Amino acid sequence: MTQCVNTPDPALVARYRTRAPRYTSYPTAPQFRPVTDAELRGGLARGDGPISVYVHVPFCVRRCHYCGCHVEIQGNRDIGDVYVDDLLAEARLWRAGMKDGRGLGQLALGGGTPTFLKPAALRRLYAGLTELWPRVPGEGVELAIEVDPRTVKPEDLDNIVDIGFTRVNLGVQDVDETVLQAVNRPQPFELVEAAVRRLRDNGLDDVGVDLVYGLPMQTAESFQRTLDAVASVKPTRIALFQYAHVPWLKPAQKLLERYPRPDSEARTAMWGQARRELGAAGYVEIGMDHFAVPGDSLVQAREEGTLQRNFEGYTTHGGLDLLGLGVSAIGYFGGVYAQNRKEREAWRADVAAGRFPTERGWVLGEDDQLRRRVIMEIFCNGRTELSAAEAAQLQEPLARLGPMVADGMLVVEADAVQVTPLGRFFLRNICAVFDRYLEEDAPTRRYSETA
Ligand SMILES: C[S@@+](CC[C@H](N)C(=O)[O-])C[C@H]1O[C@@H](n2cnc3c(N)ncnc32)[C@H](O)[C@@H]1O
Repeated sequence: MTQCVNTPDPALVARYRTRAPRYTSYPTAPQFRPVTDAELRGGLARGDGPISVYVHVPFCVRRCHYCGCHVEIQGNRDIGDVYVDDLLAEARLWRAGMKDGRGLGQLALGGGTPTFLKPAALRRLYAGLTELWPRVPGEGVELAIEVDPRTVKPEDLDNIVDIGFTRVNLGVQDVDETVLQAVNRPQPFELVEAAVRRLRDNGLDDVGVDLVYGLPMQTAESFQRTLDAVASVKPTRIALFQYAHVPWLKPAQKLLERYPRPDSEARTAMWGQARRELGAAGYVEIGMDHFAVPGDSLVQAREEGTLQRNFEGYTTHGGLDLLGLGVSAIGYFGGVYAQNRKEREAWRADVAAGRFPTERGWVLGEDDQLRRRVIMEIFCNGRTELSAAEAAQLQEPLARLGPMVADGMLVVEADAVQVTPLGRFFLRNICAVFDRYLEEDAPTRRYSETA
């Protein structure tokens, strides 16, 4: 495919504009239902080999009004010490249900704000986890942590490097003062520069940046300043999320409705602007919303066709069983999704009583597994290959792709579905066709707009 599509035709975008999941899981979290202790134990016991661990640290000192994540506003960092005790107690519960001898292949800390934990607490958490699952020897283990440049202290950054984290992700979102003020996140860009410098001076080069487009007060000009500023610190990865406005789930987002927000056409243009500018700066586009420098492991994984997708976005270790620790965290092991309780006291009470703190989840059947594979491959590689039997099983959704094929978004071959460069903008629409649980009315109730 040599066709270069930076910005799709607005009329086409308008025609396909709907509400659809971002498919960080399949089935998606709103479908999850209660799972039994036996189902969880079955999934846990099935697994072998290294595991990937995601730890959710929900605390933030101030609420960003756009935020769609599960957070708890807290001023007292001492709470983090208790939280680490509870996380390690939870980790021991899961460990007891697993086969012996499994190691840690990947660790990611997200939030909220993982650096809300004091340096000693973070160190204790890492030591406790690696006692249960020793770090797999050799190259390739990824230890990643999200950092908020506004609140992180130099000693937190030094501690992160000293523990052995290999990747840091900075929440930047935007650099324009008017935008940042509107979303309640004042953040001088010097703080971002200082954090990057400190990490690199300590020898940690892999620094990624999160941006959001579609925020209130953003314009093409302000967004250009953001892209330029971010490029100046040379992140190895850039995640560019489209703002998901879901005030029925996140009431603080209602506060943003008093400001002008870029409409669908302006948002699509921003996406094109980012593709053009970041492409010119040497970044490779990954999947739906990520960019990375050519030597990055995400680019390598994309080239090798091993890129995966989970709740953290795109990842190189998606083949491993994923254990989610902490409030609201989601794991996926042995064909079972498990989402923890969101309310901290309820989560704690379960852990204290020796029960898995799982609120809901899903045990994947054979049809779920096939659709999950197809959706993840389309999201990651823009292509999925199907045996004759699989194509027969998916006959109905494959037939429903007809209008998208006619509009040039994908090509359906006898044994494969191939997304075109234009189709990359419509990945959520394409994958929704394979989602057997997306009832007619669900999109309006639960998901953000596709464009
Ligand atoms: C789990 S959040 C935690 C970020 C971190 N605490 C920080 O410094 O902001 C991870 C990322 O999700 C993205 N995000 C949060 N809310 C969003 C929304 N409503 N729509 C799109 N992206 C969002 C932001 O880019 C954010 O950096």
